[in-house]
Amino acid sequence: MRTIEGHASRDEQGKVTALNPIQQRFVDEFAFQCSYCAPGFVNAATVLVEKLQRQPIVKSQLEKVIEDSLGHHICRCTGYVRYYSATRNVLTDLGLVKEG
Ligand code: FES
Repeated sequence: MRTIEGHASRDEQGKVTALNPIQQRFVDEFAFQCSYCAPGFVNAATVLVEKLQRQPIVKSQLEKVIEDSLGHHICRCTGYVRYYSATRNVLTDLGLVKEG
């Protein structure tokens, strides 16, 4: 089991040295506001990344896969658009989405 505290890289003293790609992209794209929902979205999107690293998908499946992975999380602030966009961009940048 992994909690939100286990996603970032840390040094020997436990200080965060780097966010994981999903965390960093959520920050870069201002995906959340109050952040109450952020741990759930980070966990779900990270699980999705790890799943697609084993089996990439074709582009035509991307929106459905994101909806299936993140759609059961609730955010009362953002309307999901930036979470979905950031996740789409991470998956594409990591080469986990093939043309087709
Ligand atoms: S950012 Fe506030 S609930 Fe999602």
